[in-house]
Amino acid sequence: MTVSAFTFAVDDGSTNVKVSWIESTQLKTIISPNSFRKDWKSAALRRDKKVFNYTIGTTKYTYDATSDKALETTHVDYQYDDLNLLGVHHALLQTGVTPCPVRLVVTLPITEFYNAEDCQRNEANIEKKRQNLMREISLNKGDLFEVVDVVVMPESVPAVLSTLMDSNCNEFTRSLVVDCGGTTLDMGVVVGEFDDVSAVYGNKEIGVSMVTDAARKALAAADSDASYLVANELIKRRYDMDFVREVVNDESQIDVILTKIENKIQELGTSVAYEAKKFAKNPNRVYLVGGGASLIAPALKEAYATLGERVVLINDAQSALARELCMYHSDFDELEVAPESLIEVEDE
Ligand SMILES: Nc1ncnc2c1ncn2[C@@H]1O[C@H](COP(=O)(O)OP(=O)(O)OP(=O)(O)O)[C@@H](O)[C@H]1O
Ligand SMILES: [Mg+2]
Repeated sequence: MTVSAFTFAVDDGSTNVKVSWIESTQLKTIISPNSFRKDWKSAALRRDKKVFNYTIGTTKYTYDATSDKALETTHVDYQYDDLNLLGVHHALLQTGVTPCPVRLVVTLPITEFYNAEDCQRNEANIEKKRQNLMREISLNKGDLFEVVDVVVMPESVPAVLSTLMDSNCNEFTRSLVVDCGGTTLDMGVVVGEFDDVSAVYGNKEIGVSMVTDAARKALAAADSDASYLVANELIKRRYDMDFVREVVNDESQIDVILTKIENKIQELGTSVAYEAKKFAKNPNRVYLVGGGASLIAPALKEAYATLGERVVLINDAQSALARELCMYHSDFDELEVAPESLIEVEDE
């Protein structure tokens, strides 16, 4: 008899790793930002601060949320390299589950998972990703999860699995799924309730980081240099004036900064809407997922105005894919869904 290993669904994006798993009958989700640099950190002065020093082969890495030497994770090779292995193991440790043998359900950008010409699975890429995550890695003074099996799924489209099942669509319904992430825009057209994926699209130039970069520039100009994480938080909480005042030192610059952010959000929305229309002119439904979903929603509702309510912003859009993959690969019928939690990374 084989005992099945504990399963984690891991949407290992370039900027944030989203992990969902089931504890008793609760579906839990965390979001763990990627930020690693070479070499190790010295032991933390404060005892409540945990240091994560990793070794892969002969290379040493550490988790460093605020380092300006943080390694780039925003290229396609990321999917098959050390940083991906680090990002996934680090995120698993943030779940609070005691390290054990695990089966992972992970993701590949849709254009890596399918061949663009014929929408057939790209088995070579899928195997490359599996092998990458089964590699040896160690944590100094700590235990890691042992990866015993890896299942690879495409990004974007599976994020709407349960939404489609509940939506009474017929076998001819064409649904456009738009995943606006930190650095990439992924799209796919699903036919029926997942009978077929009929077209895929990937663009590495369009993502929320356009807005993050603009926010950081505007903040720096107002003597308020901010890390990537703080800039992202400001974008999310731009209507929360108490928070805005906390981040911006020069209060006279608040309006300028917020206007710059708002303009970039519009620019992002316009670019995504333009690409979406070019890719799928007349789908029957449009679903928005990924961290940037709420930012681009107004532009997409306008671009597909005739669809009205059928342009849908998925709840908790950033972690939707991880949640759906977890539900899809579990045997539970009834699950209580716990709210997602973003792992806190403090400035030091
Ligand atoms: N509610 C929100 N409002 C605005 N921005 C948000 C919100 N939630 C998340 N984000 C931003 O979305 C970005 C991350 O999105 P996501 O986790 O989908 O990217 P990713 O999967 O790492 O990237 P990619 O898919 O491009 O590889 C971050 O910049 C984050 O700050
Ligand atoms: Mg993503």
